[in-house]
Parts: sequence; structure tokens; C-alpha cells
Amino acid sequence: MNRKGVPLRASGYSEALPLDSKSRLPLLEELPWPNSPVFLDSSGKEQFSAFLTDVTNHELLASKGLASRLALMLSGPPGTGKTLLAGHLASQLGRKLYVARLDSIISSMLGDTAKNVRSIFDFVAGKHAVLFLDELDAIAKMRDDRHELGELKRVVNTVIQGLDSLDESTIVVAATNHAQILDKAIWRRFPYKIEFGHPDLDLRHALWSHFLSASEDQDQQISVLSRMSNGMSGADIEQHALAARRRSVLDSSPLDMASLGGAILNKKVDHRGDASARLSDLKRRLAHHLVNECDIAQSETARFLGVSRQAVSAYLKATTDAQ
Ligand SMILES: Nc1ncnc2c1ncn2[C@@H]1O[C@H](COP(=O)(O)OP(=O)(O)OP(=O)(O)O)[C@@H](O)[C@H]1O
Ligand SMILES: [Mg+2]
Repeated sequence: MNRKGVPLRASGYSEALPLDSKSRLPLLEELPWPNSPVFLDSSGKEQFSAFLTDVTNHELLASKGLASRLALMLSGPPGTGKTLLAGHLASQLGRKLYVARLDSIISSMLGDTAKNVRSIFDFVAGKHAVLFLDELDAIAKMRDDRHELGELKRVVNTVIQGLDSLDESTIVVAATNHAQILDKAIWRRFPYKIEFGHPDLDLRHALWSHFLSASEDQDQQISVLSRMSNGMSGADIEQHALAARRRSVLDSSPLDMASLGGAILNKKVDHRGDASARLSDLKRRLAHHLVNECDIAQSETARFLGVSRQAVSAYLKATTDAQ
């Protein structure tokens, strides 16, 4: 898993990656294509497939004077699948994926940033690859007191020149968590955009099913998890799911939905560790949360918690009494 510092030579001979002249660290990484699926909501799917269609029909569109720059901006909160989607794009088109993390280029190489940015664009020119500019908003964050304004302008201009100089066949994908702080002139150079939000109910369902490797008979429990995980990112869901599966393997027991629900609940409603909480206390709080806040039926709640309906009624009553 340790990708950093390990140069990837996926396909035999490859030209040396450009380095920063002072630190000798590579400015770009060639990343392997992902081997896990990416889940998108319906508008994300539509925009992604529209972009793919335009890429594959680029010559036809160009011959009619209708081609636009193959530049796609991915914006949205952390852990929602932007980097993963850039990988899928490269893999679906059979192209190499070169990733430049602008935050590291900028933070470590004060002064040399514009030169580094230029080297990146020079390197990918003519390679028929996907250039992925990750953390593009790092440029905008240069507006702090460590950098002079002149340097920021130089870097923004270098990025713009780089984008303008690229040959038609190079695809540029950029990702940002903060679309609103990006320089407008850079933003305009990305005709294609996909906005990521926190996953909606259907998407959460797909993510839970996938990461829990759930069977069809667990579908109702997956529905409960999906409903109670509003506001979580795909990466959060992955983390919770894998932790639950690890526990289940190590304890040689089936997936413990009540503990998984409890972990989600703790993240959402308070941050006390649950280690000391008794299981019945956890189930009581979960029952209250699922029924009263997620609007989940008592029978479904009972199945999720692995207890009887009477137990759920008792939990709810106990909670009411305690208030
Ligand atoms: N929509 C999704 N489909 C499938 N997996 C996802 C999705 N969103 C998140 N994940 C899981 O979370 C991990 C992190 O996602 P990713 O690195 O793509 O997020 P990101 O949007 O690039 O975040 P950041 O803004 O922090 O860079 C992925 O490798 C994947 O395992
Ligand atoms: Mg990312």
C-alpha cells in the first residue's frame, strides 16, 4: 500500500518523471488503474458518460468545429470518489494516469512552483495520457502570508498557459474540495464538470452493500444503515464497513449490525467511545435514534438490532422515561 516514494514503472520502459530540482522528489506519479468500482448518483453518471462520449468522438466533433477542450473538473467534499473516478476515466480510455498533487508541489518548493507546474505540462504533452491535477485549490490557498501575491499570479498564469498549450489529445482532470475559491480564469478552462456531494440514499445503499459484501437477505439491514448514514462520505462508509467486517472475522461471528449502528451513531451524536457502554444501553439508544430520528418502523428496527419487537418497545419506553 505504500505508494509514496516507490516509482511506478507499470509498463516496462517509461521516461523518467520530472523532479523538483531542489528536493529531487517527483512532481508527478503514475498511478495504476483502480480495481474497485466507483458508485455515482444519476447526475454524476450522466455527466461522466457524456464526457466519455465526447472524448471518444473528439475527432468527429473537431471536424465540425464543435470540440471543446477535454478538461473535466471534479468538485466536492473529501472522500466522495473524485480521485477514484479520475482513475476509472483513465482505465476506461486505456490511458496512463499521471497525478500531480499541487499541494505538495507548492508547499515544499516555495519560489520554484511556477517552474514545477510548467515541467508537469511539458512532461505530459503528446503522451495521450490523463493528467490529473489533484487538490487544485492548493493554488488558491497560496493567498496566505507565506507567499507574495506576485508568486500566486505567476503560478495561476503558468497553470493557464499549461492548459492552453496542451495538445488536443491530452485529457486534464482536476479535483478540488473548494470550487468557490478557485481562480475564475482556471475554472473557465474546464468545460466539463461533475459535482460530488455526500452520497444520497440510493448511493449509500450501493456503497454499504459493496463494502459490507452484503448478501440479498441482508438488504433490509443495509436499508437501515443507508437511512441512518446521511451526511457520511463514501470513504466514511468504507471505513465503518471494513472495521465491522474485520471484527466479524476476528470474532468468528456474523456481522454485528448493532455495534456498526452504534459506531455510526456515536460519530453523529456524540464522540464518547462506546467501549464501556453496555450492549443493552447501545441498543436502547440506537432504537430511539432509528425510530424517532430516522423514521424507521419498530419491526425493522427490531430486525436490525436482532431483538424482539417487545424489546424495542421497552427500549423506547425506557428512553422516554429517562428524558
Ligand atoms: N462514490 C464512491 N464509489 C466507490 N468508492 C468510494 C466512493 N466514494 C468514496 N469511496 C471510497 O473512499 C475512498 C476515497 O475516495 P477518493 O480518494 O476517491 O475521495 P476524494 O473525493 O478524492 O477525496 P479527497 O477530496 O479527500 O481527495 C475510495 O478509494 C473508495 O474506496
Ligand atoms: Mg482525492
